Amino acid sequence: MKKKVISNVSWVGCIDWDLTKFHGDDFSIDNGSSQNAYLIEEEKTVLIDTVWTPNRCDFIGNLKKEIDLNKIDMVVVNHAESDHSGALPCLMQKLKKDTPIYCSAVCKNILEGQYGKKDWNFKLVKTGDEVEIGNGKKLKFLDMKMLHWPDSMATFLTKDNVLFSNDAFGQHLAVEELFADKANFEILNREALKYFVNILNPFSLILSKKLKEIAELNLPIEIIAPSHGAIWRKEPSYIIKKYEEWANCYKENQITVLFDSMWGGTKKLAQNIAKEIFSKDKDVVVKVYNISKADKNDVMVEVFKSKAIFVGSPTVCNSITSNMAGFLEFLKQLKFRGKKAAVFGCYGWSGEGVKILYEKLKEAGFDVSDNMLSCLWNPFEEDFSKLSDFVESVF
Ligand code: FEO
Repeated sequence: MKKKVISNVSWVGCIDWDLTKFHGDDFSIDNGSSQNAYLIEEEKTVLIDTVWTPNRCDFIGNLKKEIDLNKIDMVVVNHAESDHSGALPCLMQKLKKDTPIYCSAVCKNILEGQYGKKDWNFKLVKTGDEVEIGNGKKLKFLDMKMLHWPDSMATFLTKDNVLFSNDAFGQHLAVEELFADKANFEILNREALKYFVNILNPFSLILSKKLKEIAELNLPIEIIAPSHGAIWRKEPSYIIKKYEEWANCYKENQITVLFDSMWGGTKKLAQNIAKEIFSKDKDVVVKVYNISKADKNDVMVEVFKSKAIFVGSPTVCNSITSNMAGFLEFLKQLKFRGKKAAVFGCYGWSGEGVKILYEKLKEAGFDVSDNMLSCLWNPFEEDFSKLSDFVESVF
């Protein structure tokens, strides 16, 4: 069923209420999600994006109920990732021959890489290009390179002033009522932040520049219609401002303690580090996570909010636990900036764990304290007496 966004613009996407994972199993989904596609019915009929492959039959079936597919004059593919292009091969077989696909040059290459070379009528566009769709309205294309793929693009519809932003400003959130102002505000913000941290933060420097470039274009944006989750129609500047904040080395007065533990020694250190942080600063928010048990995407949100983190692992076979190694690899990918860190852990004989944590956190871009807390077997009074200086080292 199509749902009206504004005037002749409708949502024609798919909602996945029971989705639990995204990007394979790499992104946890807590509140469902959607792939948002949009139909613009002016003198020309335009389809903006599609949905992912498992939903292709529902998508095309629903679209057929709403419109004669022969009436579609053009398809805009803002981004080739399969959650937005998965229905394209099937759809293109059902549209008029030579229906043009507007996309970036890189997008064409990726589509052909994913689906094979087809006889599709590509119209390659970049920032500054536009196309008339009748009734005095135009689509203006905007390069969004590396936000978050090299092909990414946004499309602005004049007069109705809708920015189809694709992944940017999206959230993994199922909202039947479609609009951000109808969604639970706390959950919406949480999901928008989780999406930003886990998908866009690695590109935050590029994003800051792009937001300035968009501002300089003076587009009178009244609605931001992303490709996942709720549509921002009341004060779309709200999410733009959030993105500006988040992309600029965001931090709150929070310190997070992350640990893995085999027999409880490193866990005991983590608990006592948390107490020591609180005793030094009653205003700081202190959070503690066992990274083997907590959801890694949610933990990354807490790291993002933190001004400093403490990271602990026991030494295992001259290294750190495999779960901690995987976590730190993900941490490196997310390219956090402007955060401090300190490392700790228990050991039985060789004790390399803390040095490995130190090196990995440096590689991940953290300002890591040289004061490492390393404890032989289980922590006792002598070890706890070092906690004050150790914690102080990141304050
Ligand atoms: Fe929602 Fe990058 O795809």
